Amino acid sequence: MAKAGKPAAKRGARQTKLAKIGAGELLTLIDFVRYAVSRFAEAELVFAHGTTDPVAEAAFLVCEALHLHPDQFETFATARVTAAEGRKILDLIGRRVMTRKPAAYLVNKIYMRGLPFYVDERTIVPRSFIGELLDQHFGGDGDEEAGSLISEPRAVESVLDLCTGSGCLAILASRNFPNAEIDAVDISKDALEVAARNVGNYGLQDRLTLYRGDLFEPLGGKRYDLIISNPPYVDADGMAGLPRECRAEPKLALDGGTDGLDIVRRILDEAAAHLNPQGGLLCEIGRCRPQLEATYPQLPLLWLDTEDSEGEVFWIAAADL
Ligand SMILES: C[S@@+](CC[C@H](N)C(=O)[O-])C[C@H]1O[C@@H](n2cnc3c(N)ncnc32)[C@H](O)[C@@H]1O
Repeated sequence: MAKAGKPAAKRGARQTKLAKIGAGELLTLIDFVRYAVSRFAEAELVFAHGTTDPVAEAAFLVCEALHLHPDQFETFATARVTAAEGRKILDLIGRRVMTRKPAAYLVNKIYMRGLPFYVDERTIVPRSFIGELLDQHFGGDGDEEAGSLISEPRAVESVLDLCTGSGCLAILASRNFPNAEIDAVDISKDALEVAARNVGNYGLQDRLTLYRGDLFEPLGGKRYDLIISNPPYVDADGMAGLPRECRAEPKLALDGGTDGLDIVRRILDEAAAHLNPQGGLLCEIGRCRPQLEATYPQLPLLWLDTEDSEGEVFWIAAADL
């Protein structure tokens, strides 16, 4: 039975507060990063939303509090912060530990391929490997040896981003395919509001159109040179064991049904009817490769790796579908 006095929830919240830091105990950016890393380790946080380790996560939060791009961290690592800046950083560290929300939700920002995108809890925190693959394999600034899966990116006239969420992949694609009209679809009104904000921030309203609906349904019979998609693909076991950080994200963005492939199967089954003959489909499926290959043994799926992933994204040419 709870003791009389403060309500139990309030007492619990007070217990999880971080210990007070005395004035002058932490001075430089790197001091605050070290402190944050210790608190993050103590709280056993999970890092899967734009950063994959506590140091990068701490550096990201410190930079955001100081209005610095993460690439500028090293330049200023040993610079001192003001008292007001220090309070702001400590507040972010405290909120990250106590709420367990992804850092991107706390600062309403995420970087992909070095570009900033607005994000909030109406949509998943962008972290798709497709951004890197667009640069590597589709005429971006990446690995020349990797070759291009589309012979002339400037000749690409139409791109579809299915399950667009915050619109990040559609916006990145607009840079790889400078002459393309881009369509982007999501079933979530909330996500599309975030996407519209990002499209506006990048001034792409005239070239990028957002549609609300179920996969290809709002597009009629329209065909594209390229379809990209990072659909929901977490299987039932994965959904049951999601870390708290991921439970802050919309379930609709993650849940791929029993084996994770409910949406992916529909995309594969319907893509041929929406691709031009020389086009192709680039699709992320997480760890579902074994199930997918067992379901479609006849399809010559080309698996593309990135710095942090192996066999989580496939490419298939329209002619092979
Ligand atoms: C994994 S998130 C990807 C978001 C974004 N493309 C990214 O990479 O950050 C999947 C998105 O698919 C959307 N979605 C789920 N089911 C859908 C459906 N049947 N049709 C269209 N979009 C759907 C969700 O609302 C969510 O925004």
